[in-house]
Amino acid sequence: MYRTHTCGELRAPDAKKTATLAGWVHARRDHGGVVFIDLRDRYGLTQVVFNPQEKPQLADLAHTLKFEDVIEVAGLVRPRPEGTLNPHIPTGQIELAADRLTILSRATPSPFEIDLAPGRSKVAEETRLTYRYLDLRRGAMQRNLLLRHKAAIAMRKFLDAESFLEIETPFLYKSTPEGAREFLVPSRANPHQFFALPQSPQVFKQILMVAGFDRYFQIVRCFRDEDLRADRQPEFTQLDLEMSFAHQGDILSLIERLMAAVLKECLGREIPLPFRRIPYREAMDQWGSDKPDLRFGMEIADVTEAVRASPFKVFSETAARGGSVKALAVPGGAGRYGRAQVDKLAQKAVALGAKGLAWAKLEKAAAGWTGPIAKFFDAAAQKEIGARAGAKDGDLLLFAADNWEKACAVLGGLRLSIGAEMGLIPADRFEFAWVVEFPMFFHSEADGKWVAGHHLFTNVHPEDAAKMEKDPGGTRSLQHDLVLNGHEIGGGSVRIHDWELQRKVFGILGMTEEEAREKFGFFIDVLKSGAPPHGGIALGFDRIVALVAGEENIREVIAFPKTHKGTCLMTGSPSRVTDKQLDELHIQLKK
Ligand code: AMO
Ligand code: AMP
Repeated sequence: MYRTHTCGELRAPDAKKTATLAGWVHARRDHGGVVFIDLRDRYGLTQVVFNPQEKPQLADLAHTLKFEDVIEVAGLVRPRPEGTLNPHIPTGQIELAADRLTILSRATPSPFEIDLAPGRSKVAEETRLTYRYLDLRRGAMQRNLLLRHKAAIAMRKFLDAESFLEIETPFLYKSTPEGAREFLVPSRANPHQFFALPQSPQVFKQILMVAGFDRYFQIVRCFRDEDLRADRQPEFTQLDLEMSFAHQGDILSLIERLMAAVLKECLGREIPLPFRRIPYREAMDQWGSDKPDLRFGMEIADVTEAVRASPFKVFSETAARGGSVKALAVPGGAGRYGRAQVDKLAQKAVALGAKGLAWAKLEKAAAGWTGPIAKFFDAAAQKEIGARAGAKDGDLLLFAADNWEKACAVLGGLRLSIGAEMGLIPADRFEFAWVVEFPMFFHSEADGKWVAGHHLFTNVHPEDAAKMEKDPGGTRSLQHDLVLNGHEIGGGSVRIHDWELQRKVFGILGMTEEEAREKFGFFIDVLKSGAPPHGGIALGFDRIVALVAGEENIREVIAFPKTHKGTCLMTGSPSRVTDKQLDELHIQLKK
């Protein structure tokens, strides 16, 4: 046996026992020939003492130990002498008086210290990712991966109790037009043909419903070759789930209870159920986002009607064109935002796609607005706009005039950055919401055609089914997104289970039956073979764990993530392959 106890286990009542520990040398101190080692494993730290008076040869050997050497030590557990107790660690009342030491492995010098404190590392991320095997020894990473494990276990336990079956689906799949760019895998056995890695198990989980499995889930890797951001990885993990004979409300309430179980298991926190359900239109109108951060107020207002007749052309012409004028009152912003800071906000607005940012300050309502656009609005107009925007004395008013969606999104972006700047966003809150009633179709100006708002199999909202073909743009779907603190942590829908409806949807998307058959041939046959009503969702597992762990980047909760360039610095992938490998795959590289 390498060890009788872990390094986090021994306490005062264990004094006088003999124990054997194994782990890494976290620290070594020499005091007048006595060698103190802090021995570390994932459970904690224990102080080990080598006394040269008692065991001179052992103390000499201990003296040669370096950081991160792996050792096994045996000895007597004893209370620490008066005045040397360490209240900061659970084993701080005892130490191990060593009488045997085996060096299991010597370590080369580590490029950085193994920091046990929670929180962000000061080491550059490139270094951390290059030496991930060392980085993973840090306290914060050990804690994050433990949380990840707990979240996965909580999900599995919960879903098992709800009669869900975990079923695996293929990674070698077929190239389909699902959304993001795919990773392709050449087939050696079938020259010139390729598999695609699945962006999600969407089609398979629907097939499992048609096959009668009724309730499926899988904690599964998905692959998308897209541009990476803080919350995106080329391979990431979903809790993927599908259920038959379920209405949208059944899916939402199941996921609410699941999230409550996860937060309870990981953090011991109770969260109030049910979650808010916000129609897409309202989410955009009030928070300027389809993933609203509800941890703070500062809601956006619509002032289109109040400015329709205004002499300020930027506003009145937008209203006349059928666009929207939205306003955001920044509390206390009149004093806080000087000219230069307002200009910075305007630059941010432009970066968010705005044509400009009109603003006014309301130092004192009685004195009227100040700022360049004030002159266009008389006292009555100012009063009405101010009332609609909920502006109070001392506020800064920001305006976006554009098509409805853009005007909302610009102020939504500003709301988030101002909220962060002003410290309005409480870190320790979990504000969940469902966003529902998404548009079934968006019109793509670039392609001059309708594109699916979600994926191609999402069902139409029953209230809008009759008008779908006449008014695709005004048709809502049965999509549902789960939002937590301004992050989209899940998305799904009730599916189309009726081939006739699916054909109509393909038609609106400009896909002929032949094209649909070419791309989804097998799936069309599946739908025609007796499909139960079904629906589901996929939760972004990495994002959920990151939010639970209080991390901003999902790389912090993935053992071996890719860099923002999609590479692995530790293994050096992607990498070149030999000509022989390419030959076997019938592939020739372009110059
Ligand atoms: P969707 O594409 O919305 O839905 O994905 C579901 C959730 O997965 C997370 N996610 C990601 N996380 C990390 N890195 C990425 N690159 C990434 N892309 C997505 C998000 C997202 O909400 N098949 C459908 C689900 C369904 O309809 O049931 C799907 O994949 O949190
Ligand atoms: P202009 O009339 O172009 O000088 O613009 C007057 C003010 O309106 C400036 O502060 C612009 O930034 C702002 N502005 C211009 N276009 C828009 C717009 N679409 N929405 C909001 N403000 C705008």
